[in-house]
Amino acid sequence: MVDQKYRPVHVACINPDKFPQVALYMQSGTNLVLYKPADRPISKADLQRLNNNQVEQLYVGSGSIREVCDFLEDSISDILADSDISGPVKGQLLSQVAMNYVMDVFEMPDKLSNLDRCRNLVRQLLQYIAGNPNPLDALHSIVSHDFYTFAHSVHVASLSLLVHAEVFGLTADELEDVGIGGILHDVGMIFVPSGILEKTDILTNFEYNLIKKHAERGYECLRDLGGFSEITLAAVRYHHERNNGEGYPFQLAGDEIPRTAQVTAICDVFSALTSNRAYKKAMTKDEALALMESVGKDVFSPRLLEKFKAVVLPEES
Ligand SMILES: [Fe+2]
Repeated sequence: MVDQKYRPVHVACINPDKFPQVALYMQSGTNLVLYKPADRPISKADLQRLNNNQVEQLYVGSGSIREVCDFLEDSISDILADSDISGPVKGQLLSQVAMNYVMDVFEMPDKLSNLDRCRNLVRQLLQYIAGNPNPLDALHSIVSHDFYTFAHSVHVASLSLLVHAEVFGLTADELEDVGIGGILHDVGMIFVPSGILEKTDILTNFEYNLIKKHAERGYECLRDLGGFSEITLAAVRYHHERNNGEGYPFQLAGDEIPRTAQVTAICDVFSALTSNRAYKKAMTKDEALALMESVGKDVFSPRLLEKFKAVVLPEES
């Protein structure tokens, strides 16, 4: 298992002239091994070899994470505009930058107050989604077990943005608020003790109830910080409410649940089902949708689920 103190870096963003001089690690089986020390520059020939060996990710250690993430975030606009980089790789890099943002926020919640940073990322996501034929596949391709929570947040934001952009007539600002809500929907998890989140045994009722508090705690945290819109706050607070009234925290039903939260809920479950986890393989999109339609008792609004399906399935054919 990859230690959480390392973060993945896509090889495509390593430009020998600009990339920070840091030690890079490589996955070997379940371990990370030193690929190059900080004082040895990476060359074009190294990159060519990595390419030939189909190595897409290297890792950076905790001491250089900040430097590398800042480099990536600063260069993401150039990367997205670079015609030498393919659309899917751009998607992976963008997803990585967004994922780094979520990791920062989970590790250092004071970063939440920098709302502009999140808004900029959502703008880039929106642009990418609008300009690429299969945006979701690329944005969701770097999920590894160890970074699931962070990659899941970006996936939910991408799905929710795509659905809202294609189905509902929202303004650009509203769409950004939807994306911010998607990225931060589980931010309340920072208040759940890590021992519970990492527990692999069955949770006790007490522990499960603590986890269930993440929706309201996330909402309270963002509300108290200020600057987050009603759309964003609703996505965070109500994404575990269910159409049939059997969700939490308030057991709202049907139209009592704000639409953004209903869509976020669908994206949340769909993302979880279609992602690889340590304990289960990912379902296909069709399998996930079939399951979501068959769970009965209208857990999700059938109307919204239908619209969701129309947006995520055509890419397959
Ligand atoms: Fe959640």
